[in-house]
Amino acid sequence: MELRRYFRLRPYIGMYRRLDITPVQTARGWRDDGTLRERIPALDEYEAMASVSREKFAADHARYVASVSNDVMAASIELCAFMDVFCQIGTPQRVVDLGSGFSSYVFRSYAKNAEPPCEVHSVDDHAGWLGKTAEYLEGHGLDADRLWHWPDFISQIEPGSFDVVLHDMGSMEFRAESLSQVLTLAKSGGHVILDDVHKPAYRKHVHQVLESEGLEYLSLKKITGDSKARFAYLVFQK
Ligand SMILES: C[S@@+](CC[C@H](N)C(=O)[O-])C[C@H]1O[C@@H](n2cnc3c(N)ncnc32)[C@H](O)[C@@H]1O
Repeated sequence: MELRRYFRLRPYIGMYRRLDITPVQTARGWRDDGTLRERIPALDEYEAMASVSREKFAADHARYVASVSNDVMAASIELCAFMDVFCQIGTPQRVVDLGSGFSSYVFRSYAKNAEPPCEVHSVDDHAGWLGKTAEYLEGHGLDADRLWHWPDFISQIEPGSFDVVLHDMGSMEFRAESLSQVLTLAKSGGHVILDDVHKPAYRKHVHQVLESEGLEYLSLKKITGDSKARFAYLVFQK
């Protein structure tokens, strides 16, 4: 590229890389969204249901990111809406949210009136955040039972015992290291939601692991993509 042109475009190239707004991910997101709605026909009504969910959680989410956590660490409102809708249409009986926080609030709010009943476990690799999550849940009229420190959880819980698993725990290195174990938590026919796959190195690792284990996955970029370019994958346990 001609030098003057390069300097003119440089800020945009940096932004493009930082946000990872590659046409490949966007195209995959659109294609996978169609496949998702074919595989899970109840998601056909997604936009209407997600808009109700967003409205339900928006005020608490805004307060949570302003006063408890921040908008980089907490699950996005787009992901929260997806988790809520996914529970409504799938009526899971056991959910585990790895990486406690606002996601724990979303799942436990669903579980409060769920029929059939839904048991939610929330896990963290950082004991301090479990304490904050317990305080937040109790302050919002939800139970703070089944809060686990990751080493206790993974040594005591039977593999294949959850309908829905969210993996949003710890640093990206920890997330990559724990991925294989996390995938075993979902029962046959269950689903694992992997947040933050916008990060290229993590996404590459995710692809390697899922492909080596022969697990199908779909990009949720179209419906969980947020203003920080974050998005999630949905993995189908065999
Ligand atoms: C991406 S966060 C998990 C967010 C959680 N699922 C939520 O919706 O709030 C990953 C980990 O960072 C830690 N964490 C959460 N909020 C944090 C904050 N504001 N600052 C530093 N660490 C945080 C917790 O240990 C958590 O497991």
